[in-house]
Amino acid sequence: MAKEALKTHDVEFSGRPALVGQQKLTYNGLDVAFAPYNDYWKEMRKICVTHLFNASRVHHFRPVREDEVTRMIEKISSLSSSPATAVINLNPNRPKDQIRGDIIDVLFQVQKDRAEDEVHGFSRDNIKAVLMNVFVGATDTSAATMTWAMTNVMKNPRVMEKAQKEVKDLIGNKGFVDEDDLQKLPYIKAILKETFRLNPLGPIIPRETTKSCMIDGYEIPAKTLVYLNGWAISRDPEVWERPDEFDPDRFISGDKSYIELT
Ligand code: HEM
Repeated sequence: MAKEALKTHDVEFSGRPALVGQQKLTYNGLDVAFAPYNDYWKEMRKICVTHLFNASRVHHFRPVREDEVTRMIEKISSLSSSPATAVINLNPNRPKDQIRGDIIDVLFQVQKDRAEDEVHGFSRDNIKAVLMNVFVGATDTSAATMTWAMTNVMKNPRVMEKAQKEVKDLIGNKGFVDEDDLQKLPYIKAILKETFRLNPLGPIIPRETTKSCMIDGYEIPAKTLVYLNGWAISRDPEVWERPDEFDPDRFISGDKSYIELT
């Protein structure tokens, strides 16, 4: 039934309910993730894809990511437990030394370019709403997923051994894994897929129907609040063998329980 909603009737089920908490966090739906499915969302999505979330931007920030990973490893090594804080400067006239073409600069540039556009202008609230999506929706989910992945590996010595062997065989004495190595680590990738399956960070996905449609002989009226249970889908015993077990091998092609997931 979820497939009907997410594939066959994806347009009808692509609305987002205007829940009070989300509206507060997103300056009344000025973001991308919680904005209703309309021309504004399409425009915002285009801005994000064109200026923020594309292969060239991902490539551009590679040195920043590598720098952060190195610092994280050093921090873990030094077993430091002091709390860290960060202040975000949202002043367009930020001191020059802070301007390194980061995500905030990109959003300011978009704002400048669109200053004349009266229909879909880009205000300070738009910038804050998109930043909220990135900081709340992207950083915490990624960090918590990594925590789950490491916990799953620690609790499964067989998996730990296979993962260590794969990494050691690939990098030898190099001493670190860089982004070019990632495509050559299928078992590590399978560990992440299995973690997404067992510990999804967005287990229940709220949607709102944009217009009425028929599913399984039932009429679902427009503006119906729908909760999609991703957690149950990824543990469905009719699809997954030993659904509660952490077994990355199910994502390695050739394994008897192999399932393709892209
Ligand atoms: C492990 C990491 C992540 C998890 C578990 C996660 C989870 C989710 C979920 C469950 C949704 C809702 C999907 C839906 O309603 O169909 C979503 C949407 C979204 N996520 Fe993530 N996310 C992750 C990382 C990221 C990152 C790194 C970014 C951006 C840098 C990001 C940006 C977004 C955006 C913009 C949307 C809204 C998409 C749209 O409305 O079309 N997420 N995410």
